[in-house]
Amino acid sequence: MITIDLSGKVILITGALGSIAEHMVRRLTEAGATLVLTDIKSAEEASEKLRGWRIPCSSYVYIPADITDSSQVNRVVGTAFQKFPQMDTVIGHAGGCGLHPFASTSEDEYERIFRFNYFAQTYLARSVLAEWMKRNIAGHLIFTSSYVARMPHTQIPSYSSAKAALENLARSLALEYALTGIRVNVVSPGNVAAGSSLKVFDEDPAYREFVLRVSLGRRNSPESIADTFVFLCSPLAVEINGQILSPDYGAGIGNRL
Ligand SMILES: NC(=O)c1ccc[n+]([C@@H]2O[C@H](COP(=O)([O-])OP(=O)(O)OC[C@H]3O[C@@H](n4cnc5c(N)ncnc54)[C@H](O)[C@@H]3O)[C@@H](O)[C@H]2O)c1
Repeated sequence: MITIDLSGKVILITGALGSIAEHMVRRLTEAGATLVLTDIKSAEEASEKLRGWRIPCSSYVYIPADITDSSQVNRVVGTAFQKFPQMDTVIGHAGGCGLHPFASTSEDEYERIFRFNYFAQTYLARSVLAEWMKRNIAGHLIFTSSYVARMPHTQIPSYSSAKAALENLARSLALEYALTGIRVNVVSPGNVAAGSSLKVFDEDPAYREFVLRVSLGRRNSPESIADTFVFLCSPLAVEINGQILSPDYGAGIGNRL
């Protein structure tokens, strides 16, 4: 029997109070990991939410922060390493968007979406990689992307471009840090029946038709996305580097069946 035991492992997750994150937090905690959770929501909201998810207080630390502000990201990372000097896994999971057609989206809004989905991840990477280099830790950085990085859809150009840039960043960093033992991978889900895409799926028939066509009528479950993270964080995945793992029913390859 194969079991996944993450006890002793400390994992930082951004955007940790979101819909997919709920299942990641549950599964990673069940596997024994200790979690450093960060999100823009207040500490009070976080403890209420995590209590509702039945996550034991002893298995996590929560640090509120806006990840689009690099000084706040540095503060989160610094606090996490102070508490857990051997922390070796970091998941840049925060991201998302609503519909934002190119012509009617202001320059500011376009850049806000891109910053949240791309530049915020570079702040996280810069901060964490510096700590791992200083501490000689062969860490594992994982980003959450989306199948639209490879299969763009209308009305989400800033989001899909940011995710495409993120996937390339991950592969570039994997290459740049390969000799240090540091690994960088990506989990790139298909359309998940939860979270930021629910409203768009419900309200936009064209988006709904596109999603169901490329995923052959099936939307991904947040549990399946969470399981991909559990696998990637586990000893079973130690030889995986610079890869895009896609729990997406093949949506990212552009099913045309
Ligand atoms: N839902 C989907 O269909 C889907 C599909 C593919 C990829 N993804 C990706 O999965 C990840 C999670 O998506 P989700 O749908 O669960 O999102 P969600 O909207 O449920 O959660 C996002 C979380 O990010 C937090 N957040 C927002 N702005 C922030 C900021 N500036 N700083 C820190 N935290 C902030 C929110 O408070 C929220 O808890 C994202 O990267 C998203 O792009 C989602």
